[in-house]
Amino acid sequence: MSATTIRPRERDAILQALRAGVVPRAGQQHVQVGRANEIRAMLSDIDRVADGGSAIRFVIGEYGSGKTFFLHLIRSIAMERKLVTIHADLSPDRRLHATGGQARSLFAELMRNISTRAKPDGGAMSSIVERFISLALTEAKDSGNAAEVVIRQRLAGLSEMVGGYDFAEVIAAYWRGHDTGDESLKRDAVRWLRGEFSTRTDARAALGVRTIVDDATFYDQIKLMSRFVCMAGYTGLLVCLDEMVNLYKLANTQSRNGNYEQILRILNDTLQGSVASLGFVFSGTPDFLLDTRRGLYSYAALQSRLAENTYATNGLVDYSGPVLRLANLSREDFYLLLTRLRHVAAAGDPAAYLVPDQGLTAFMTHCSQRVGDAYFRTPRNTIKEFVNLLAVLEQNPGTDWASLVGGVDIAAESNPDLMPFPDEELAYSSYAAPPRGRTPLPATGTSPSGQPVPGDGGDDDLATFRL
Ligand SMILES: Nc1ncnc2c1ncn2[C@@H]1O[C@H](COP(=O)(O)OP(=O)(O)O)[C@@H](O)[C@H]1O
Ligand SMILES: [Mg+2]
Repeated sequence: MSATTIRPRERDAILQALRAGVVPRAGQQHVQVGRANEIRAMLSDIDRVADGGSAIRFVIGEYGSGKTFFLHLIRSIAMERKLVTIHADLSPDRRLHATGGQARSLFAELMRNISTRAKPDGGAMSSIVERFISLALTEAKDSGNAAEVVIRQRLAGLSEMVGGYDFAEVIAAYWRGHDTGDESLKRDAVRWLRGEFSTRTDARAALGVRTIVDDATFYDQIKLMSRFVCMAGYTGLLVCLDEMVNLYKLANTQSRNGNYEQILRILNDTLQGSVASLGFVFSGTPDFLLDTRRGLYSYAALQSRLAENTYATNGLVDYSGPVLRLANLSREDFYLLLTRLRHVAAAGDPAAYLVPDQGLTAFMTHCSQRVGDAYFRTPRNTIKEFVNLLAVLEQNPGTDWASLVGGVDIAAESNPDLMPFPDEELAYSSYAAPPRGRTPLPATGTSPSGQPVPGDGGDDDLATFRL
């Protein structure tokens, strides 16, 4: 057991997140277990991106298997390697392809969350642009050229890319704002980059450009951004998209296929190496990948490119393909996880442990009797209950752990992911038969805690990324 101390604020934040069933925003290293092979695979992707290449992964795992946690981890590793990261959850209002503003909305969410090592919690756009400017100013000083000239030269590389001319103009506008102390010009430039202008007229009035980031330019803008962050001294851009199951849930075949086509475009670009310094990580449930009616496999070109290596069966693994299966946590991983939680709750002081090792095994036995083996595979509820148990022990000194363990009430995880969107249910029932082998789905589900949730499927993880 490590002797690391954990700051009280970090301790509280970790425990609070776990009790709510979400992934802690910081300090995940204190609870993280397992996943060594998966991390190694992602490290090679990150290094390839940092080396000017491209990468793409589909992280596939059951509900509660740790996808969101894994994405957080990968992001923090990427930031360590000087990549810029952007991340967002897909939702009915945030898609990769759309005509009603949902792709711009995804873009805006990604850009709100833009992070660097110095600003790991998002909101890093201004500081990235500032960094670009200050590198250019240093070069101008060294070379004796005018700053404006150096900046224009540096931006020239963008102009040949789709949409690059206006992108470069916006950066130049930021520079003018910087140079003349015009804060509102700087702010408008950042707003444009973040996809926050909703009309061309406004953008033109504020910045003199004719275009804005919209649904149609979503992917081009991400490519431009990956090029730009390199000009600002970072090693590349990593895009993390969680809750991809929301595409599977789109009842309208045309909008679903529009999104899958966008994924195919990204997949082809990254596999052919026609994009630079750019990586994508998508995460979703097995249905999102495998369902041949509504999942990625319903799109023939994706199915053939994402088909799993037929030799990698019976315990053999292949971590080189684009699909990364997140294995379930093992019993040993889970035991280790409980020791970590105990350690965190004690703020890193073994003398303050609230339960002995015996208590950990007793807890596992109890869970296994209550919900079977699922308890360690999809650990959300089990973690919650264990943290609750520790909280009671802490606040009631002298209480006997053994008497409490037997009373822990634990429920099996229910997966809210498979509910169709409520507003599309009509379309769903009139256009398509229910997926094979599945009974028609109700409009509302139950959350992992058993509470009824409104019809969007109760994606409790949404809370994770609200800033
Ligand atoms: N490798 C891990 N080590 C420690 N805790 C984990 C790990 N993976 C997941 N968890 C915890 O398990 C719970 C469920 O994980 P989550 O990432 O939300 O699952 P998913 O996104 O697949 O539904 C969260 O509380 C998370 O903190
Ligand atoms: Mg998740």
